[in-house]
Amino acid sequence: MENGLSFILHATPACEVKDRRKGRVVEVKVAGKSKSPLSSFVAMRRFVLCLSFLLLGSMVAPAAITTPESENVLIVYLSRTNNTKVLAEIIHSQVGGELIALELKEPYPENYEQIVKQVARENETGFLPTLKTEIEDIAKYDVIFIGFPTWGMQLPPPIKSFLKQHDFRGKVVVPFNSNGGYGAGSSFQTVREMCPMSKVLEGYSVKGGNEKDGVMLGLRDARAEQARDEVKRWLGRSLITN
Ligand SMILES: Cc1cc2nc3c(=O)[nH]c(=O)nc-3n(C[C@H](O)[C@H](O)[C@H](O)COP(=O)(O)O)c2cc1C
Repeated sequence: MENGLSFILHATPACEVKDRRKGRVVEVKVAGKSKSPLSSFVAMRRFVLCLSFLLLGSMVAPAAITTPESENVLIVYLSRTNNTKVLAEIIHSQVGGELIALELKEPYPENYEQIVKQVARENETGFLPTLKTEIEDIAKYDVIFIGFPTWGMQLPPPIKSFLKQHDFRGKVVVPFNSNGGYGAGSSFQTVREMCPMSKVLEGYSVKGGNEKDGVMLGLRDARAEQARDEVKRWLGRSLITN
C-alpha cells in the first residue's frame, strides 16, 4: 500500500490522500475550492482519478502475512537423524499448529552409504516413494511449514511425494532445512517450482548433523539455542509469532 500511496501523492498534486488503513480510514480530499462549473468538473475528475489510483494500489499490493491462527498451521517435516525435527519443534513452540513427521511405507536403509546410493538413484529416475503418513483434510490449513534435510544437494524424494500428493493452491508455504554444511542446494527452488500457486516464503536453512562423519545430531545444546534465536528472527521477518 505504501508504494501505491506515494505514487498517488506524487502523481496527483491536487489531491490530499491520507492512508488510515489497518485500523485507520482512507481519506481522499480535493485541494482548493472550485469557482466555476468547469473547475468543479476538473476537481471532480481529479477526485475520481485519486480514488481509482487508491483502489488500484490496494488491489496490486501483495497480501500481508499476519499472525497465523494456530489451528490453521501445519508443520510437516522429514528427519532421519532428528536435526530437522529439532527445527520443527522450535517452530512449533513459536507458532503452534499441528506437528507431523513424514514416514514412508518402505523406510530407507539404516546404513548411510546405502541410503546415499538409493537417494541418488531416486533423484536420477524421478522415483517418488510412497508415504505412510496421510494428512487428513489439508484444505483446512492456510500456512504449511515444510521441513527437510538436504539430500544430494536436492529436495529429498519423500518431500517431492508430499508436494505432488496435495493441493497447496492459495496457501502460504514456508520451507525450512537442515544440512551437513553444504547448504540447501536446489531444495527451496524445487519447493517454489512445485507450488506455483502458493505464496512460498523465504526459507530457513542451518547446518545440522553430518552422518558421513558420524555426527548425527548437530543441533543440540548451544547450537540448538542459536537455531532457536535465528528461527525467531526469521519468523519475525515474514510471520508475526504468537
Ligand atoms: C542421503 C543423504 C544425503 C545427504 N546429502 C547432503 C548434501 O548433499 N549436502 C549436505 O550438506 N548434507 C547432506 N546430508 C546431510 C544432512 O542433510 C544433514 O545431516 C541433516 O542435518 C540431516 O537432517 P535430519 O537429522 O533431519 O535427517 C545428507 C544426508 C543423507 C542421509
